[in-house]
Amino acid sequence: MVNKYGVRSLLNILDLSVEELDSLIATALDIVDNPQAYRSRCQGKKLATLFFEPSTRTRLSFEAAMYELGGQVIGFSEANSSSASKGESVADTAKVISCYADIIAMRHPKEGAPMVAAMNATIPVINAGDGGHNHPTQTLADLLTIYREKGGFENLTIGMCGDLKFGRTVHSLIDAMSRYPGVQFVLISPEELKVPSYVRQFMEEHQIPFLQTTDLEQVMPNLDVLYMTRVQRERFFNEEDYLRLKDSYVLTPAKLTGAKATLSILHPLPRVNEISVAIDEDPRACYFKQVLNGKLMRMALILKLLGV
Ligand code: NCD
Repeated sequence: MVNKYGVRSLLNILDLSVEELDSLIATALDIVDNPQAYRSRCQGKKLATLFFEPSTRTRLSFEAAMYELGGQVIGFSEANSSSASKGESVADTAKVISCYADIIAMRHPKEGAPMVAAMNATIPVINAGDGGHNHPTQTLADLLTIYREKGGFENLTIGMCGDLKFGRTVHSLIDAMSRYPGVQFVLISPEELKVPSYVRQFMEEHQIPFLQTTDLEQVMPNLDVLYMTRVQRERFFNEEDYLRLKDSYVLTPAKLTGAKATLSILHPLPRVNEISVAIDEDPRACYFKQVLNGKLMRMALILKLLGV
């Protein structure tokens, strides 16, 4: 999205073209090969991390990314420690922070809050997760992981399992992968946690093959990628429903019996109970590599949006 000041922000993964994604991946891989060349690219630049909702990985990943580029970081990690607790609007916060920093990474429990920030800021805003909606930089981590594991994106059967209703990482990854030929989705969830209707409509409109099921083991042999997700407790209206659904899917070695030897298992983390720790040593487990890939892609994204 480009705002009235001509400033470009990243709110949705579809804001980036396939060519731009290719170029971010190329930059991330170049950072792996030539880390020295990037050490001071963002010298004199500041990233503001505005986190109105708890996070470990995403916030620290952004901060580590900026430090590794030679830049500096300011920000807050909970709404209580910001002026939002005094009633300041997101629009005003964005205008204020534009005077202090060069780029913003914002996480917010309300869907659309980073868009309001992006409309009002005079510096780029990166959506670091808005409610149950989108999480484009997690998708950048997922894409680099799939690329490094599979060598490309075409003709993959991608299983997504768990909380597909509230899982914002799922929605952004479906958007991103839907642009590659031959991709199909297998959506595995309890009835109550199926993808929202706007996501289903998106797949229908773009004629992307997808199957909805509750049975993980039955579809396991078909999958090239299995994307496990946490049941998003904080987005449930009542605790009883959460308790009933939280352990719907627990990936164990036994459940992988029918899986391909080349399967890649991803998870945006944090993991609660969805993947048994016994799987961590399986060569198909990619979720900790995914964390490193997230930092590399955030470095590439910051460079792109700052134009350095
Ligand atoms: C995800 C998120 O915040 O949506 N985590 C992350 O950014 N790595 C997934 C989750 O919280 O379950």
